[in-house]
Amino acid sequence: MTLVDAAHASGRGFTATLSRDEQRAMGQYMTPPTIARFMAQRLVADVQQDHVRVLEPSAGGGILAAAVVEALLAKQEDQRPGFIDLYLFELDARLVPGLEALCHQMAQACQAAGVQLDWRISQEDFLLSELALRGQAIEGLLTISNPPFLKLNKTSDRRAHLHSYAVYGQPNIYSLFMAATARLTPPGGKWCFITPRSWMAGQYFKAARHTMLAHLTIDSLHAFENRREGFEEDSVLQETVIAWASGRQLFEPSLNILLTRSQGASDLDQSQVTAVPTERVVGDDEHVMLSLPQSQQDPFEGWTATLRTYGFEVSTGRVVAFRAAEHIRETASSWSVPLLWLQHVKQQEINWPIRKKREHISATAASSWMLVPNAPMVLMRRFSPKEDARRVTCAPYVGMLPGLVLGLENHLNYIYRLSGRMTPYEARGLSAFLASKVVDEHFRALAGSTQVNATELRKLPLPPLAAIEEIGRKVSAKPSLEEIDEVVNRVLGLPVAAQAAA
Ligand SMILES: C[S@@+](CC[C@H](N)C(=O)[O-])C[C@H]1O[C@@H](n2cnc3c(N)ncnc32)[C@H](O)[C@@H]1O
Repeated sequence: MTLVDAAHASGRGFTATLSRDEQRAMGQYMTPPTIARFMAQRLVADVQQDHVRVLEPSAGGGILAAAVVEALLAKQEDQRPGFIDLYLFELDARLVPGLEALCHQMAQACQAAGVQLDWRISQEDFLLSELALRGQAIEGLLTISNPPFLKLNKTSDRRAHLHSYAVYGQPNIYSLFMAATARLTPPGGKWCFITPRSWMAGQYFKAARHTMLAHLTIDSLHAFENRREGFEEDSVLQETVIAWASGRQLFEPSLNILLTRSQGASDLDQSQVTAVPTERVVGDDEHVMLSLPQSQQDPFEGWTATLRTYGFEVSTGRVVAFRAAEHIRETASSWSVPLLWLQHVKQQEINWPIRKKREHISATAASSWMLVPNAPMVLMRRFSPKEDARRVTCAPYVGMLPGLVLGLENHLNYIYRLSGRMTPYEARGLSAFLASKVVDEHFRALAGSTQVNATELRKLPLPPLAAIEEIGRKVSAKPSLEEIDEVVNRVLGLPVAAQAAA
């Protein structure tokens, strides 16, 4: 049995004894062998030192450390290290005997290859360990980790206090593992984590990102995109990312980040590799967000305009149902106007009335502040289910409803022209563009954002206004997503078949 298989068997043997709830509460999700090997191979590819130190800070069955040792031993003899020190941390005492057995097996494999292995298993909380708290770089360190995921209480959790340098808002324990180990990585040291994507862009991960990027240079990223049902291992991988990084050098060469993608674990071998300039992945503002561009030919690259450039603004519907209860009506009256809710807006389609909701609002002096002019605009759901084909569900409103003004409920956003009127073609074009696959991919690449909010819309690079209008002229009144992709790609000069077929 290989080292990885042995670690896998012991890790899985342990999780099989846990209930699902226990597994979730303790973050006991073990890395599958194919992924462990994939992570380790890239981690050690450039390692040349004779003395390396391997850290697995949340070891479980030790599969990641085993994969690193296996990958180091698989190197050509003249590139293999002579000494390996292994540091394994695991909080759960029940996993320690398995780790001890694995370390013995690793030592034998190393001895057979002429490599000396020393190990230390610490049954303690890594974040409270002397090593993590000291935060000093360790010569020759290679860190590999699948950390636990768990929200921590910022005020009462000691770990959040002790690692406050990486805490902003509500921390998740996994980001503390990332940041704490980043501090330990020396120039030339290596670091690899498999985690949810949320750290890449989430607000609450800002301080952790700052710490990571102060100590590390991201070398490579792999995104799992799986949306299929049925593969247990793969479905856990949804929205998961693997990041590889090196300890920062004093002088950084201008770098590319290697990017790969796969559906799950089974097609890792076929994942295509692209190299993208670092500045396309790592933001250079104070938020230092990371995104995963789709390909080297990013259409957004050349666009510098945003909604503001064209005089558009995005706002949130002002009718908050419980506060406006006295103005909202079941039936129409001579002084009422349409009130649009989330349910009235489907993808590229507005249906009113639907006789389901209280869908009228009285237009009086008292309610006038919450009403908007009845003019062309794009209406957009602020919340849509994750399973929806596109992150943005929106529709052009071209002025077909009665009344001088309209009510928009608070679960809708709307894009309108700040002074003057949006034309119906602009509304149709903008709506189709926002629902298109190119925009969808752009938003999905901003990791962690399942809902597209007003700030993200304001930041979205837009093609020339003439192209938006052209899209509006070409799409039908209620276009399907396929039609939208076809028209948007044609007008913007993007590959039509490839984009529309997917
Ligand atoms: C997601 S599992 C990953 C296990 C293993 N590294 C793998 O890839 O299969 C996380 C492991 O970290 C352990 N753990 C949780 N919190 C920890 C902490 N604060 N310090 C050390 N280990 C911890 C859990 O018991 C669990 O075994």
